[in-house]
Amino acid sequence: MYVLGIEGTAWNLSAAIVNEDDVIIERAATYTPARGGIHPREAAQHHSEHIGPLLREVIQGARDRGIKIDGVAFSQGPGLGPCLRTVATAARVLALKFKVPLVGVNHCIAHIEIGKWKTGARDPAVLYVSGGNSQVLALRRGRYRIFGETLDISVGNMLDKFARSVGLPHPGGPRIEELARKAKGYIPLPYTVKGMDFSFSGLATAATEAARRYDLADVCYSLQETAFAMLVEVTERAMAHAEKREAMLVGGVGANQRLGEMLRLMCEERGARFYLPEKRFMGDNGSMIAYTGLVMLKSGVSTPLESSGVRPNYRTDEVEVRWA
Ligand code: ATP
Ligand code: FE2
Repeated sequence: MYVLGIEGTAWNLSAAIVNEDDVIIERAATYTPARGGIHPREAAQHHSEHIGPLLREVIQGARDRGIKIDGVAFSQGPGLGPCLRTVATAARVLALKFKVPLVGVNHCIAHIEIGKWKTGARDPAVLYVSGGNSQVLALRRGRYRIFGETLDISVGNMLDKFARSVGLPHPGGPRIEELARKAKGYIPLPYTVKGMDFSFSGLATAATEAARRYDLADVCYSLQETAFAMLVEVTERAMAHAEKREAMLVGGVGANQRLGEMLRLMCEERGARFYLPEKRFMGDNGSMIAYTGLVMLKSGVSTPLESSGVRPNYRTDEVEVRWA
């Protein structure tokens, strides 16, 4: 079975075709704001300019390989309304044109499913950390339940905010990681875990404050150590609570080697297995939507046109996971 998937919840527009075994073709176009954060309208404008050529290229790629598309999947949410609408419109048109089923995919679940596909993880507690999301999830009674999440901003957003406040280029995560390697000392910063949830906005402010008095590399290091320790603590508690013997890291912040190392150590101490997908499958990508669409279609799930409206606040636990 071949499924075409389109991702476009935020800054990255990406389309891909996958089958059960592999990614056949993937193309992406990235929106980069001129300055500051992402503007939903501008991002949607970017997507609508690029989606035509992008899809033509991917569909031509399928034709060249003699592939017939059996379904069209799209990121239905969560994400920015205007971006989601652009993607959903294109997906509906293609499904009608090819006369194949349409399937709306939850973006967060797609991160998890592609991670499992690419690493061989079976039933992990998942730490999903990106610019828009920070959650700890695990499958229980047929749904991906959110065990813990941020009470304010995501960890990626926190890193980007801090970076901007000290004049580092966007995205901040990679630059902070680089600087942290040169650190010589640790500066205490606020560690905030409440129950199973974490909070990052106070940490961003405190780090910006600290950067006025201390060496920037030391602040970057301390910021990472503090924020990641919070994430690891909640992941570990979710594993204990949900009785999971595996953990997996997904989302753009997952590219951070220090975070991966901290999770690996925690898992080793618990006698659990740790799974880390390849970087290209950790950030937003079209393949994750295509693949999740494929497993959904195979389990008999599809989305009729009348229920294909976008869902900017789509929660993971709204989806009944029939394919696991
Ligand atoms: P989502 O729609 O899932 O919220 P997103 O639009 O934020 O995703 P991603 O590619 O998943 O996109 O994540 C981008 C975030 O990852 C940015 O906040 C960026 O700073 C962060 N990031 C990227 N590389 C690193 C790194 N090496 N260390 C820490 N953070 C990183
Ligand atoms: Fe994402």
